[in-house]
Amino acid sequence: MGSAGLDMARAKMVDAGVDPVAIETFAHYYRLLEHGETGLIAESSIEPVDIERLADVEVAPEVAADALRQTAIIKLNGGLGTSMGMDRAKSLLCVRRGLSFLDIIARQVLHLREKYDAPLPLLFMNSFRTHDDTLEALARYESLQVDGLPLDFLQNKEPKLLAKGLVPASFPKDPDLEWCPPGHGDVYTALRGSGTLDKLLEGGWRYVFISNSDNLGAVPAPEVAGWFAQSGAPFAIEAVRRTPSDKKGGHFARRKADGRLVLRETAQTAKEDLEALADLDRHRYTSTNNLWIDLRALRDTLDQRDGVLGLPLIRNTKTLDPGDPSTPEVIQIETAMGAAIEVFEGSTLIEVGRDRFVPVKTTNDLLVLRSDVYTIGADFVLDLVAADVPYVDLDPAHYKLVGEFDKRFPEGAPSLAKASSLKIEGDWTFGHGVEVVGEVALEAGTAQRVPAGEVLTGSDG
Ligand code: UTP
Repeated sequence: MGSAGLDMARAKMVDAGVDPVAIETFAHYYRLLEHGETGLIAESSIEPVDIERLADVEVAPEVAADALRQTAIIKLNGGLGTSMGMDRAKSLLCVRRGLSFLDIIARQVLHLREKYDAPLPLLFMNSFRTHDDTLEALARYESLQVDGLPLDFLQNKEPKLLAKGLVPASFPKDPDLEWCPPGHGDVYTALRGSGTLDKLLEGGWRYVFISNSDNLGAVPAPEVAGWFAQSGAPFAIEAVRRTPSDKKGGHFARRKADGRLVLRETAQTAKEDLEALADLDRHRYTSTNNLWIDLRALRDTLDQRDGVLGLPLIRNTKTLDPGDPSTPEVIQIETAMGAAIEVFEGSTLIEVGRDRFVPVKTTNDLLVLRSDVYTIGADFVLDLVAADVPYVDLDPAHYKLVGEFDKRFPEGAPSLAKASSLKIEGDWTFGHGVEVVGEVALEAGTAQRVPAGEVLTGSDG
């Protein structure tokens, strides 16, 4: 028996021409939501994992190059950067010298193609909100698209559900806002439903490397491709050591019941287990969201399950118009790509360096990326030149939204290569060529200016 809310949502999706498997996938999660599914993973049901380090693995150069020649790349690009006040793809933002995330990704791939004589097709998973802008921005790279494959495929869309009653929300003023992308776990449904999975297999591609477009550290490096190929695993995720700033985030573990690897997110952790979640000595690894998948294993697994992988449900509560808190509360049903680690028998993990994990989730991260903490070489790979990545904490009242942030750094980011931390309270606008040295804190007060050329020296500078 279907509920009225689900029937309405289904009808809306059918009307909009959504892929039937995506509708069934949505229905599967809707039922879980309706039954109050929490997806909790108890501490008593898991044990910590030990992971091999990439640095300790021997991969022969010809194995690496050969694996790279069989690899396709997918960048997740369907999100809207709402945490930074954006309603467009984050990857359109400028990183430096007029180059956006998209430019840098394209150039990283073009460079590797030439160096390794590898076709390395690059595909973006866009949502209905990011498709046009992204393709326009990539149009200048004429040789980027590989014969027989599209440059992007569209992820599915689903109705936002009113928190009250779980019925599809209506917003005649801007009907686009009635829809949302179903999280990056949709990549599997979208790959198959769009026909892209079949095209990749028919074209002879064996592996796919999938990562976030906001992580410029996620380069399809030949040594990782070689490691994955020689592991024989169907599915792998690159992991990094958790640091104090990852304390509240998810981690990998092994499920005692069946020995499978799982990814436990904070939302899947009961209150009484939060202490264990934050224990960095016990649960040492977190996900980079850099995934390697054997495309044949993916096809077979999806076929066996009629296209529905059955990932843990993420119940995301937002307002109908993210920019207007007075609009009703809605629930967006989402899944996360990395959660599929538990679906594949023989999934594995590899520990990589932090250089492969440079996510931009906030304007704090963006300031570091725009500064001189990294250089970008001829291969367009980020190279950490500072002794360490400085800790940046900008006052959310003035810097959280990217438009406001840009106004306060009109001449570009300050030099942070010698900074250990920069904490700003209040409203400070930076002139050209400011240098931050050591541990610097700017205090709140009336709006102020840091003059051009100023060297801000902190306690340990
Ligand atoms: P995040 O959830 O971290 O970022 O997605 P976001 O969606 O861009 O930003 P917020 O949460 O709205 O502030 C990580 C990566 O997954 C992609 C994003 O584009 C980003 O590269 N993504 C996310 C999708 O492709 N589809 C989705 O439905 C969600």
